[in-house]
Amino acid sequence: MSVTCLRVRAVCRAVNYGRCFSRTSAVNTSAKVGDSLPSVDLFENDPGTKVNTAEAFASGKHIIFGVPGAFTPGCSKTHLPGYTEDFSKLEAKGVKSVNCVSVNDPFVMQAWGENQGAAGKVRMLADTCGAFTSQLGLDLPAVKDVLGNVRCKRFAMVVNDGKIEKLNVEPDGTGLTCSLSTSLCDGL
Ligand code: BEZ
Repeated sequence: MSVTCLRVRAVCRAVNYGRCFSRTSAVNTSAKVGDSLPSVDLFENDPGTKVNTAEAFASGKHIIFGVPGAFTPGCSKTHLPGYTEDFSKLEAKGVKSVNCVSVNDPFVMQAWGENQGAAGKVRMLADTCGAFTSQLGLDLPAVKDVLGNVRCKRFAMVVNDGKIEKLNVEPDGTGLTCSLSTSLCDGL
């Protein structure tokens, strides 16, 4: 391979790395109750189906929970199943949609949703480059060595008319306490 070709590949890698994993202090302030949800395009099932967070959750009550990674034990055995099992109860309480966000690609999120029987209950949204996570200030760099890149702290929120009404973030980023369906939805 020529030197030019190698240089081009190195530049492409640097550009893509910057796009996907850059974190600036300007956007990395933690979200709080009362904030408007950031406007970010997520992907549902495939890269052609964008879901803009500001538009999709602009009216009514919605639940969004974030996980460190698709198919990881805590997320597969406890976190996501809790929301799929509680979906009917949540719907009966006026929740318009329940959404799972992870820094994974859309194909992985689709496969995980199928594996978990989430269809029609929990929407599987890929925050592929971590832009939503980063704008919420919920980056989880601690799992980089295990999962390969910066992921999302485990959290759950209630969004009402586009604003964060309730926000529960796991204190250690990965625990399974306040972000579970039973905790978040107590008192809904
Ligand atoms: C989990 O089981 O949920 C998990 C595993 C590794 C890193 C982060 C989370």
